[in-house]
Amino acid sequence: MNRSWLLALGVLATIVASVTGLVLLPDRQLRSTAPVQDEDRGITLPVGYFGDAEEGRKVYMDLGCIYCHTQQVRPEGFGADIERGWGMRRSVARDYIHDQPPLMGTMRTGPDLMNIGARQPSAQWHYLHLYEPRITSPGSIMPPHRFLFEVRRSADGLPEDAVRVPGEFAGEKPAWIVPKDRARRLVAYLLSLDHNYEVPEAR
Ligand code: HEC
Repeated sequence: MNRSWLLALGVLATIVASVTGLVLLPDRQLRSTAPVQDEDRGITLPVGYFGDAEEGRKVYMDLGCIYCHTQQVRPEGFGADIERGWGMRRSVARDYIHDQPPLMGTMRTGPDLMNIGARQPSAQWHYLHLYEPRITSPGSIMPPHRFLFEVRRSADGLPEDAVRVPGEFAGEKPAWIVPKDRARRLVAYLLSLDHNYEVPEAR
């Protein structure tokens, strides 16, 4: 092993090359990433998460939605995401500027949710779907999240956002679901997921 210095040099070169390529260059490239200005509406985009939506993001992480859902729209030519209506453009780095941590995900047992707030803007729809996915999506294999709701059997004193459970899913008597706070927050988060605005790098 009188050439061990060569081996050490090789190891060093590998480390330097990977730190440069995987850490330093991407950092330089992305460091200046900023929100875009929407002059017409006078806001910067993405707007970020506030109030219930911010809390709901934690519920999303808590319940492991990421194990079945991604939040990243692939570019045209790299899959059918845009054709499927999952977004009007590919996702770009600045979409994640407020995401700590980003919830891009890797598994797509269910559809991508990067723009679910634009695609499905009805809170009632989300409540029914979370309570029992098969109500809104026949044959769905998404697990029901009944524990996020309280079931009431009478229409008396229902809060405004209670939703009537349709026929066969209600059981013998009529039923309404009342979202608990976690459900309200989670749905506020889902409705906030809308990245269908224009950015210069992906038109
Ligand atoms: C075991 C996998 C799995 C898990 C965990 C899961 N989902 Fe799903 N999800 C699916 C599948 C499959 C579908 C497609 C069928 C349907 O609409 O129910 C779906 C559909 C959806 C849709 C409708 C998407 C559309 O384009 O119509 C939303 C919204 C959604 N899931 C939210 C959630 C949330 C929020 C959680 C966490 C509380 C979650 N999912 C957890 C599998 C899953």
